[in-house]
Amino acid sequence: MIQHIERFVQQKLSHDTTGHDWYHIDRVRKMSIHIAKNENVNIEIVEITALLHDILDDKLVNNKEEAKREIIDLLESLQYQDDYIQQIIYIIENVGFKGGNGMQMDLVEGKIIQDADRLDAIGAIGIARTFMYSGAKGQAMYDPNIPVRDEMSYEQYRNEKSTAINHFYEKLVKLIHTLHTDTAKNIAKERHEFLKLFLSEFHREWEVKL
Ligand code: ADP
Ligand code: NI
Repeated sequence: MIQHIERFVQQKLSHDTTGHDWYHIDRVRKMSIHIAKNENVNIEIVEITALLHDILDDKLVNNKEEAKREIIDLLESLQYQDDYIQQIIYIIENVGFKGGNGMQMDLVEGKIIQDADRLDAIGAIGIARTFMYSGAKGQAMYDPNIPVRDEMSYEQYRNEKSTAINHFYEKLVKLIHTLHTDTAKNIAKERHEFLKLFLSEFHREWEVKL
């Protein structure tokens, strides 16, 4: 069962160059399972949802309705129950941060996926992914003339000009405060410190302070 879903996701994300490749999915799957062991949840739902969590992301798929239909067809062909499938779809439609405009997640399984996804956005890998994304979208690494935005609509978050470094302030350093589980909060501490250290080094070198 799981292998069918893995293959479906691998094929969907095989050309990704924005930091949302198969290895991101696989890390989120492993981290979600790790977090789930300390929570009272259905690990199978957590694993399947983690594998599918980026497939309905509007910046990765062109036709969201078609992608949703494909997921439902796949899960139905694997004999999963309707309510089970609806729950998975509900989580993956609402997992995103969306510039602070995402909805409040109310299912524990969804909270776990959010935590795992957000942990992959901070620390060394989070830094690497942000530069991948910015490069892929043609954003500057940094531009002191482009101000950091405090609050922004979803449209602004996706479409306004920004930079990789701005994204750290607009999203990455805020993520630690949005985590749900104690397991994730503990893992986040070191990764968050690493982000801050990276930023201070970056600015020191930018200003050519010796
Ligand atoms: P969400 O949709 O929940 O905001 P994303 O999938 O956009 O989450 O973010 C995943 C990762 O992609 C981010 O942590 C970051 O590394 C990268 N990313 C997303 N948006 C930007 C951006 N505007 N600038 C730089 N990196 C970005
Ligand atoms: Ni993700």
